Amino acid sequence: MLTTEENARVTRVGADTPMGELLRRYWYPIAASVQLRDRGTRPVRLLGENLVLFRDRSGNLGLIGEKCPHRRAGMVFGVPEAEGLRCAYHGWLWAADGRCLEQPYETTEDSASSLRDRVSIAAYPVQEKAGLIFAYLGPQPAPLIPNWDLFVWTDVVRDIGTAVVPCNWLQIMENSLDPVHVEWLHTYFSGYVLERLGRPDLNRGKANYGKTPWRHTKIGFDVFDYGIVKRRLLEGMTEDDDGWSVGHPILFPTILRTGTSFQIRVPIDDTHTQYFWYNCHKPRPGVLELRQQDPLDTPIYEVPVPGLDGRGEPEWHLVDNNSGQDLAMWYTQGPVTDREEEHLGASDRGVALYRKLLELNLVKVAQGQDPMNVFRDPATNVCIEIQTETALFNRGDPSRISRAGQSGKYSPILREAARKLEGERTLLEPVR
Ligand code: FES
Ligand SMILES: [Fe+2]
Repeated sequence: MLTTEENARVTRVGADTPMGELLRRYWYPIAASVQLRDRGTRPVRLLGENLVLFRDRSGNLGLIGEKCPHRRAGMVFGVPEAEGLRCAYHGWLWAADGRCLEQPYETTEDSASSLRDRVSIAAYPVQEKAGLIFAYLGPQPAPLIPNWDLFVWTDVVRDIGTAVVPCNWLQIMENSLDPVHVEWLHTYFSGYVLERLGRPDLNRGKANYGKTPWRHTKIGFDVFDYGIVKRRLLEGMTEDDDGWSVGHPILFPTILRTGTSFQIRVPIDDTHTQYFWYNCHKPRPGVLELRQQDPLDTPIYEVPVPGLDGRGEPEWHLVDNNSGQDLAMWYTQGPVTDREEEHLGASDRGVALYRKLLELNLVKVAQGQDPMNVFRDPATNVCIEIQTETALFNRGDPSRISRAGQSGKYSPILREAARKLEGERTLLEPVR
């Protein structure tokens, strides 16, 4: 349980808040590279700030304030030039670093007009990496974008799922520190969903390729170099099993690693989160070929957020998979869940540890230090390998696609792979 003030401290993302300050020490994906391919601009909302992402005609990216400082017209209508983005209204031209490059009429009347030097637009650094466009809204000098292993691997086929979740980022992160929900939400409830849909429950209730019941007998959590590892013992497992000995990492502050995917949670504002499922699939001959995929061509697909149908019934067909089930639990906790009313138990030790780690890093930032996972030395940022359990979770092999899988249900690449595997196994229910 937290007080109202404590809850605000750990959830609010605005620039003038402690958590907003901490979260501004990191780069966040704001779009897939392909989403800016056939267009000049794209509106972005990040950490409560309204911005416009653009690519000029020289191919350089920029991220600037959404409103032109002249008379506040929307820069999303801007025209990309050889350098910068020109406001549609009166042609003022803005550079990616926020300088005003031209004010056509001002210099028509007065060639020495100095107005141009007296105005600027908010501007933030943007970089492209591994198929994503990242932005940094924090103080300079900006750190490096971490070269997490999945961003660097070359022998995989990538795709990215995305959704806008109508809730605060922290309740999504807390879900990642909560192993026990898998037993209930993704197993027991999942079985009920299939009953509602009139489909057989092939799953189930089994993990470890069908060998282990999803029944937790022990959970554990450790802080490691890059975040927190959560460990679980299921009935029939020993501490030598990798679900315990290796565990399941959360990269501080907003990334969950599952198998060969990252789930990246990007705070849009206090009550919305942009979600990215960043997937690396291992090729399999005849099923999923290793296309010479330029990482910048990584495709993106939408993941629907389950709601209620016209009769007030849950949209069961959207909660037949892990991602849909998690989405429904996150946002039904409320736009910002009321932690004054919660009752944490033994299953929530990881949630408590994560809040403690947040607090430690809030203090670090207040003291002027870099928080966890701020990388500045290129020598330590070549390929940051993350150990993760493999037995319980998808290892990127398309033959592991299942109805209970992650957002893969909506991935065109995985659906094509599943079609090729038909006859071997029925892998996916139709997407409606
Ligand atoms: S409002 Fe943008 S140039 Fe006038
Ligand atoms: Fe989950």
